[in-house]
Amino acid sequence: MRTTVQGKTILLIVGGGIAAFKALELVRELGRAGAKVLPVLTENGARFVTPLSLSALAGEKVRTSLWDLEDEAAMGHIQLSRAADLVVVCPATASLMARAAAGMADDLATTLLLATDKPVLMVPAMNVRMWLHPATQRNIATLRGDGITVMQPDDGAMACGEFGPGRLPEVPAIVAAIGAAIAAQFGSKPLLGRHALVTAGPTLEPIDPVRFISNHSSGKQGFAIAAALARLGARVTLVAGPVHLATPAGVTRIDVMTARDMKDACKAALPADIAVMVAAVADWRAEVSPQKLKKDGSAPPPLSLTENPDILAGIGHHAQRPALVVGFAAETHDLIPHAAAKRLKKGADWIVANDVSEGVFGSDSNHVHLITATGSEDWGAQTKHAVATTLAARIAAHFSGSK
Ligand code: CTP
Repeated sequence: MRTTVQGKTILLIVGGGIAAFKALELVRELGRAGAKVLPVLTENGARFVTPLSLSALAGEKVRTSLWDLEDEAAMGHIQLSRAADLVVVCPATASLMARAAAGMADDLATTLLLATDKPVLMVPAMNVRMWLHPATQRNIATLRGDGITVMQPDDGAMACGEFGPGRLPEVPAIVAAIGAAIAAQFGSKPLLGRHALVTAGPTLEPIDPVRFISNHSSGKQGFAIAAALARLGARVTLVAGPVHLATPAGVTRIDVMTARDMKDACKAALPADIAVMVAAVADWRAEVSPQKLKKDGSAPPPLSLTENPDILAGIGHHAQRPALVVGFAAETHDLIPHAAAKRLKKGADWIVANDVSEGVFGSDSNHVHLITATGSEDWGAQTKHAVATTLAARIAAHFSGSK
């Protein structure tokens, strides 16, 4: 992330919620990445973190009030709202988002949000019922319609004892979203000159001229990753199984049907700097009957299955192995140990592990963990678009040498 946020100024508005303490960690991480943070603490935010701790970590004065004559003399609030490259609200409470959506300017935070001409990223955290309430969802739709980026909160156990969406996303995910917002704003293309190979969707293995073996993969996650890598400047070759999705802008798509077609297309696409193997490759193929198999009133026809080649392992151990090989792992149990074992076995650098017992197929959201050589990170439940953006930003950070 160093290259994207380094030297950039971030106006950080800390709202009043139990998650406010994580804003301190965010300030530290942004500082480490070379960003300057101008902190603003709301009146309720100050009930959870002190101005002193925020100021000590940011190395900057904390502003708390619209009515501080000294602050206004040093830098007026209109000027402050434009002094940064990006405005981040973390945590963004239901109330703060509601007031921002209504265009209110009744404290320093909302006034800055109304007066700024810079992109705004909101990182929500609140009780699950508050998050799911139609009023909050309506406000989020309004904010997004106004061009504000609202991150998807994590799913999980909440401080109040309830369970569901509403937790503040993990700090690395917030840092990556900030990096992506900065990159989008400055048109920075950190992956320019890199070639990325992405596989997506299911494969389809025919049994006879009318029947096939396949799986529920929709291709949405792989397509989103191809799009996110292209947005960061990579030349992307997307090898797609049969899915009904539009080809993302700037992506070269190769449509395939079977696992063996996909393998051949991937090998032909080498050399690449990056491989992200998202496809749900059918593990077995059948011996194809040239004619439609008919019922003959006795036993059903036997299916003779052969294991398909492992495309990820083939790329992970290839003589022209890309510098960064990322696999996915679809698991229904023991997610982390199974995914970590796949990382080693298939010669991948990273594995994005998802629990497919959670109904991820076809859905727009995905709860993933990133497994690397040094450990695992829980990225929480996010939209597939957000997972793609975060992963692409991590890949860019890897090549810039900061991860
Ligand atoms: N994969 C692949 N070729 C295969 C099977 C899987 O390239 N023939 C890749 C997938 O694209 C994914 C990773 O391997 O990046 C893991 O896929 P997954 O379905 O989770 O695991 P499998 O290897 O099929 O193992 P199992 O079904 O036993 O869990």
